[in-house]
Amino acid sequence: MTTIHENKGIFIYMQVIIKRTTAEIADLVSEKFVSLLEKKPKAVLGLATGSTPIATYEALINKIKAKNLPLEDVKTFNLDEYVGLEKEKYSYRTFMEENLFSPLGISSSQVHFPSEKTLSAYDEQIAAYGGIDLQILGIGSNGHIAFNEPGTPFESKTHVVKLEESTRDDNARFFDTPEEVPTHAVTMGLATILQAKEIVLIATGTNKQEAVRQMLSGVNSLNCPASILNQHPHVTVYLDEEAAGKLY
Ligand code: GLP
Repeated sequence: MTTIHENKGIFIYMQVIIKRTTAEIADLVSEKFVSLLEKKPKAVLGLATGSTPIATYEALINKIKAKNLPLEDVKTFNLDEYVGLEKEKYSYRTFMEENLFSPLGISSSQVHFPSEKTLSAYDEQIAAYGGIDLQILGIGSNGHIAFNEPGTPFESKTHVVKLEESTRDDNARFFDTPEEVPTHAVTMGLATILQAKEIVLIATGTNKQEAVRQMLSGVNSLNCPASILNQHPHVTVYLDEEAAGKLY
């Protein structure tokens, strides 16, 4: 399935791939990362947290180990991080350590996270490494990407955000108590994300149906931050049948 949108007189093709299982999606997306790493050992990877990429990271770890791919020249930039966390165990850095970096032996000198202290320097740092070659994204149930909540300007760079209550509720499952979910985060902006050379977005489950429908409706709306992806020339969207439920 390919959705075609006209944007400023240019037709944009968002390739949409619908699969039955998360495992099939994980296989395809991890394969994209592997081919990049085989071609470009100095690749710059844009990484996401959340439940969605976990299966892809597992598949990627298995493939990289099976092929014995060298990773010492790889650099990674994560999309976002909480602000004001009291316990490091809830941080996205810890999530990435556990789910990808540590199993692959990627060292802390290779990885980057945005911080409220540096903000736009993050965009400059990404640019200094030549830009992100491949960015993986999930999508929030309200259409957010990274932590760019509805209403975020399309030209935004790395910035601090106040999280919507719906986002705090969605993410409370990762915390011992709902009160521990931070109210703020620091995130790559929408313009930062759009600088990536290639983007893959994964959405699974019925709670993503409406966000996916809006993203692929062809209307670029601040109400659905993911709709900015219509402006990017190289995006592939991977959906399971549940997330694609409102597209038919
Ligand atoms: C968080 C993250 C996003 C992620 C979204 C969806 O808000 N900041 O990067 O895409 O949640 O998460 P999940 O994959 O757990 O549904």
